[in-house]
Amino acid sequence: MEYTRLGKTGERISRIGLGAWQFSEAWGVTEYEKAKAVVARALELGINFFDTAMVYGNGLSEYALGRALRELGVKRDEVFVTTKIPGDFLNPFDIPRAVERSVRVLGLGYIDGLLAHWPPAWHNFPTRVYARALERLVNVGLVRYLGLSNFPVELVEGFRSSLAKADVEVFQYRYNLVERWAEEEIIPYAEKNSITVQAWSPIAKGALTGKYTPGNLPKFADVRAGDPVFHPENFEKVWRVVQLLKSIGEKYGKNPTQVALNWLITTSPVVVPIPGAKSPEQVEDFAGAVGWRLKAEDWRAIDEASRSAVILYSIHYPRADLPSSQ
Ligand SMILES: NC(=O)c1ccc[n+]([C@@H]2O[C@H](COP(=O)([O-])OP(=O)(O)OC[C@H]3O[C@@H](n4cnc5c(N)ncnc54)[C@H](OP(=O)(O)O)[C@@H]3O)[C@@H](O)[C@H]2O)c1
Repeated sequence: MEYTRLGKTGERISRIGLGAWQFSEAWGVTEYEKAKAVVARALELGINFFDTAMVYGNGLSEYALGRALRELGVKRDEVFVTTKIPGDFLNPFDIPRAVERSVRVLGLGYIDGLLAHWPPAWHNFPTRVYARALERLVNVGLVRYLGLSNFPVELVEGFRSSLAKADVEVFQYRYNLVERWAEEEIIPYAEKNSITVQAWSPIAKGALTGKYTPGNLPKFADVRAGDPVFHPENFEKVWRVVQLLKSIGEKYGKNPTQVALNWLITTSPVVVPIPGAKSPEQVEDFAGAVGWRLKAEDWRAIDEASRSAVILYSIHYPRADLPSSQ
């Protein structure tokens, strides 16, 4: 396993993490023993950077991850766990209550990295107020480091300038080969300010793995139902990228999942993908995505091909059964 440092801290984190959203109804791994087997394999392979959130199964994912880490006997300071507080809880009344509960559900004594999961849209909670309430958690020792997920840079700036002493050490944003918007503002900002970026959906929810093909696109019964990436018109473009990943991967003895993840870490030193796994075998692929680098010409070929795979998010609009006004 390859390791790096979190943000401006000395915390040693694996160059690839593991997302634990899978341990919930959204993705279907609700049986504790199955989740534990995934975490066990990740630890064996040297992965020590884990991500969960309060909203994943409303605590189920935090519970499974924390229990597995405890039962597997890891030393507390050898793993780094991020969890996330939803935007809807970002006020000084909900923050201490929710975070105390999260610490109890995880059962790890404290939270290594607490991220605001998304901005408090619709609630009008002032940035300065929730920033200070989150910093208080650091002061009292419930949380070690703070982070932000899905915040535009303007709001990141407002948040950071509201903090007295702590700083943002970790970001979490959607970033994969067919959804590269984070490259425009977020990643340059993170590189300039030494903030680690956890890349979420780094294999586009499985679309970049090569196991789904245009002729074999299942009707998903999980969180992917209706996901624009899997709409046939978008997926056709994704598939062209997957085919290139396959042919380039053959030169390195790597599969499309591994090439897609390697491309992200080759692109930026601050990016740490946090793919989700439903089985120990899927984690094995993740571990094989690091410890090597794509050659510059292969990196560039993938860069160019993926630039033309633009996902349209309005693809389902309008509903198909509306009469045409023309
Ligand atoms: N901050 C946020 O707003 C946010 C949003 C989303 C996710 N996240 C975090 O990011 C993590 C990862 O993102 P994600 O779950 O959306 O998507 P992802 O990691 O891009 O895709 C995960 C899915 O891909 C498939 N897969 C995984 N490894 C595979 C392999 N080796 N070969 C073939 N298929 C494989 C699995 O589903 P199948 O086997 O069923 O195909 C798996 O559930 C989450 O667990 C969560 O921690 C954060």
